Amino acid sequence: MAVQKYVSNKMKYNKVLLKDPWLSSYVPKTVWFSITALEDMLKTYPVVFIKPNSNHRGNGIIRVKKVSQQWGLFGGKPSYELRYSYKDEVKTCYLNGVINEVVNEINPNKKYIVQQGIDLATFDGLPFDLRILMHKPGKRWQISGWLARVAQKEQIVTNHIRGAKVLTLGQALNKNTHLNAVDLTMKLGDLAQQISQVLGSYFDLRILALDMAVDKKGNLWFIEMNSDPMFRKMFKKINNKEMYENILSTRNYIIKKYKHRRPKRRL
Ligand SMILES: Nc1ncnc2c1ncn2[C@@H]1O[C@H](COP(=O)(O)OP(=O)(O)O)[C@@H](O)[C@H]1O
Ligand SMILES: [Mg+2]
Repeated sequence: MAVQKYVSNKMKYNKVLLKDPWLSSYVPKTVWFSITALEDMLKTYPVVFIKPNSNHRGNGIIRVKKVSQQWGLFGGKPSYELRYSYKDEVKTCYLNGVINEVVNEINPNKKYIVQQGIDLATFDGLPFDLRILMHKPGKRWQISGWLARVAQKEQIVTNHIRGAKVLTLGQALNKNTHLNAVDLTMKLGDLAQQISQVLGSYFDLRILALDMAVDKKGNLWFIEMNSDPMFRKMFKKINNKEMYENILSTRNYIIKKYKHRRPKRRL
């Protein structure tokens, strides 16, 4: 597609959002992976995610979660649980073990980020996040479709390709009766517009998908953006014909209208 260039550098688009004083508060703390960076992040946050900077589809992701702290004569020694997006294993170890394991698991030829883990709201006890499809057919961004993706049991990611179940936004939010679904939906819409405005103008985009999250307390978070989003299977499953057709027709309109332009490359 010549409409736009592919953007997959997670650190880069986070930095673009961090320049905006309002949007920065929705971006989880993210640093480049190094052993000291991981140690520091584990001191600060109860859960961290280690992710390849430019992968997608939930590939190569590790979650480290603090599980307990046994207090002895010489102070506490926390232990951690490790889980992976790409295999079923679970490991529990002390900090040294975590570092060894992560260094062993990651691909030395790739850059990784370490990110504050968000305590995702759940549906039937399983975490979910939100996929929002954004289009800019003319001067403005519009929300063409959105849905919730519920992680498969024992899975740490909510990618559709990794077995997530899809629900409408309402189904997922209404089940969390302590949250105000109407209020959240409005805030989410505003936030998605603002984020698309900022990222869209920086990277010269007209189509993008945002992975957003609601935590258990009802705070909204930006997880990532996709400039070549998969949507067909996912959006077909929620059985909202009007939404699906709107997505397809807006997308086709954009592709037809802008296919001959030369998008700026800002990576
Ligand atoms: N910081 C985080 N806190 C909680 N869950 C996360 C976090 N980062 C990623 N995830 C989970 O992992 C999934 C995949 O992460 P994402 O950054 O979107 O990578 P990918 O490009 O592989 O899709 C997210 O949709 C979400 O379910
Ligand atoms: Mg994603």
